[in-house]
Formats: sequence, structure tokens, C-alpha cells
Amino acid sequence: MITHNETLEKVYTAQNHEELMDAYKDWAADYDQDTVNGYGYTAHIASAQALSRSLDDTEGYILDAGCGTGLVGQELYRMGHSIMDALDYSKEMLDQAMQKNIYQKHLQADLSKPLDLPDNHYHAVVCCGTFTYGHVKADAFAELIRVTKPSGIICFTIREGAYEEYGYRDKMIQLEQEKAWELLEMEDVQYFEQDNVQCKLCTYRVMD
Ligand SMILES: C[S@@+](CC[C@H](N)C(=O)[O-])C[C@H]1O[C@@H](n2cnc3c(N)ncnc32)[C@H](O)[C@@H]1O
Repeated sequence: MITHNETLEKVYTAQNHEELMDAYKDWAADYDQDTVNGYGYTAHIASAQALSRSLDDTEGYILDAGCGTGLVGQELYRMGHSIMDALDYSKEMLDQAMQKNIYQKHLQADLSKPLDLPDNHYHAVVCCGTFTYGHVKADAFAELIRVTKPSGIICFTIREGAYEEYGYRDKMIQLEQEKAWELLEMEDVQYFEQDNVQCKLCTYRVMD
């Protein structure tokens, strides 16, 4: 196991969006190897499983938001889900995802801004590893809800610590109270085996 990694340090200490994208640019080619084999990253598998068990079939149109190199999409693809778009702000991470040849479209977009996507477009959205320190804030939930069809599923992880500290929990509850979505499942799962880092894995249904 790797016990120290400058790239990961750079990702979690980035002071702004440019620094964060710079860190992912440097990391893209080694990301899969470093996370899965180096840190014991497993959240992508748990996320794909959680999404899959909430869907009626494998025919739904899925958005992998903050797809990175496509690790979640790869798991979903193995489970038979093959109608998926990839979205990430890092061109280099998206290029890696493209090489996996599993997505229909590869969208370079900022999840913190309004997305150039129609309302009610996807049956499901998965967003793993992207609601965390210095990445995408809780405001983005509203856009994910907007692009998801009524009764569609949104499944995401939130890194432990950031969950309360960064206002995700409050926003999630606010959206429940506004009847924008309803909680189906929430569990604590392993994020990185190394250092026993956990995350919340949440599955919501968008209200009609
Ligand atoms: C930790 S990686 C997770 C990638 C992938 N979902 C996985 O599970 O391996 C976080 C991803 O979020 C992307 N990201 C960070 N901020 C973003 C933003 N504002 N809009 C879109 N993507 C963003 C990064 O480029 C990176 O690919």
C-alpha cells in the first residue's frame, strides 16, 4: 500500500478550481492504478451496486457525473448497463474515460454551474467521489435533480467529514423537505481501505 502520495495531497489541498484541475491533469494516467491498487479504492463498486439495485432494469439512460476515468461506468457496464454518458470538468480524466469505450457521450462540463442538458433527461445519475473537499458543493444537487426524470434515481457518495462540515447534509434535508427528492438508502461504506476512510453512500428518488 502507498502511504503517501503527492498527487492525492494536491487534489485535497487545491485552493481553487484551476489548482484542482491541474492536479487531476497530472493524475489522470495513473488514477486507476493509484486508487484501486494503491489506496484500496472501493467506493466506485459500492456506488455502481447501489445504483443498479435501485433501477428496475438495465435499459435506463444513466449520467456518470464527475466520471473521472470511468471506474463507476466500468462497473455499471459489467452489470449490463450500457446506455451511459460521461461528464467531468477535467479533459484529461474524460480522455481516460473515453478510452474505456463504454459511454455514448463524453461531456466536459462544470457541475457547479448550470449544465447544458435538457430537463428530465436521464433515468439515473451516479456521482461518486465528487462531493468532497474542494470539489463540487451541495448547490449542484439541484442540477442533478433537474436533469433526472421524475421517479429517476440519483446515487452519490459524500466523503466523511465533508458531509456535515460542507453543508451537504443540510442541503439534502432541505431538498427532502421541499419534496424534490426522497431518500431510499443511506449507508456508510469504505472509500479508501487505506487509512480506513469512509463515505456516505446515498440513493435518492426524484419526486414526480
Ligand atoms: C475523486 S474523482 C472521482 C472520479 C470517479 N467518479 C471515480 O469514482 O473514480 C473526482 C472527479 O470529479 C471531477 N470534478 C471535480 N470538480 C468538478 C466540477 N466542478 N465539475 C465536474 N467535475 C468535477 C474531477 O475532475 C475528478 O475526475
